[in-house]
Amino acid sequence: MPRSIYLDYNATTPLDPAVRDAMLPFLGGGVGEIWGNPSSVHHVGRKARALLDDARDRAAKFLGAKPSEIIFTSGGTEANNLAIFGMARLLKTKGKHLITSSIEHHAVLQCFDYLEKNEGFAVTRLPVNADGLVSVGDFQKAIRNDTVFASVMAANNEIGTLQPVAEIGALCREREIVFHTDAVQWFGKEPVENIGQFNADLVSVCAHKFHGPKGAGLLYIKSPLHPNPILFGGGHENERRAGTENLPAIIGLVAALEKFVKSPVFDHAKLKLLADVLAAAVEKIKACELVSPRTNSLANTVSFTVRGTDGIALMAGLDVEGICASSGSACAAGSLEQSHVIAAIGRKEEANSLVRFSLGRKTTAEEIDWVCSVLPEVIRRAQLAGKAASRL
Ligand SMILES: Cc1ncc(COP(=O)(O)O)c(C=O)c1O
Repeated sequence: MPRSIYLDYNATTPLDPAVRDAMLPFLGGGVGEIWGNPSSVHHVGRKARALLDDARDRAAKFLGAKPSEIIFTSGGTEANNLAIFGMARLLKTKGKHLITSSIEHHAVLQCFDYLEKNEGFAVTRLPVNADGLVSVGDFQKAIRNDTVFASVMAANNEIGTLQPVAEIGALCREREIVFHTDAVQWFGKEPVENIGQFNADLVSVCAHKFHGPKGAGLLYIKSPLHPNPILFGGGHENERRAGTENLPAIIGLVAALEKFVKSPVFDHAKLKLLADVLAAAVEKIKACELVSPRTNSLANTVSFTVRGTDGIALMAGLDVEGICASSGSACAAGSLEQSHVIAAIGRKEEANSLVRFSLGRKTTAEEIDWVCSVLPEVIRRAQLAGKAASRL
């Protein structure tokens, strides 16, 4: 039986060997390697600049965008921060009302919280239904005369719901509202034909979710939008993101985009089959409640809550069996913080007992069978641990 079963691909994915090979010449200082600062005017710097430009051209071509519409960032968090702070602050003289959903990643929600608390913006956080879906009708009703910016994620990281972003984007365009989508969980799992498919003015992407390196991402920004910078100290990225470019990470991001995004790394048919087997096993356990929708959602994500225990006991119990899962978003793991997503879908009492299995391209039927066979016992033990702790 396999002893390490990784079912946490929504948290991160392993770096692909071919992507790593593409990055290697940019990491070392050996002869013929590319280590210069793209901003230096000498030939070593110019060589790095040429390869940075080439990477931007490739990313733009892949996404069907202009090179000037790509800003390389340190990942999804920075892309979201730049989109939200950068646009809200740019547009504040036109209006100070913003719209988002209640199940965004914290890298979105906390930006809106900050703008509301410290910079005088009004924020509408749209509710979702039991499947985590934002209603386009609710979005339309939330629009005010002073609404200038909105952000709704493409795919939810905790329960996998796919949002109607293209419809929301169309509505925003009609009402001249700048629209951003956090597509971090979409890339590598759902098809990307063209960045225009999201109908968004800004789109966040993160490399380590599709077998690229950590610390690499990009923000697509439709021209001629020019968000206020959130980092200062240099004119990099066309005056939009100060700081010497992380060329190895950028090369890895682009290589991973080209290799894993267009024909999704997650083979839908295979993964749906495996995820359905897992979901059926979960549904057979009395204490469990499936919370990930089985349609209109990421095929790889199976999430459920468990009565009579909590996320920490469940994660520990799974880990003892060699199974890697998550309890909510990766940043909240390790703490007993409730899942705001589970609370938002109307299950507040169960919000600290979430288990998320997210499957990936290496997941096998044998692994899923093993997880299904040990899951009832893991849950029983976690519930017993909870009861013992409450007697102390
Ligand atoms: C939907 C979503 N947005 C943003 C992020 C942040 O990405 P990173 O932590 O790599 O910056 C994540 C990471 O889990 C995510 O799932």
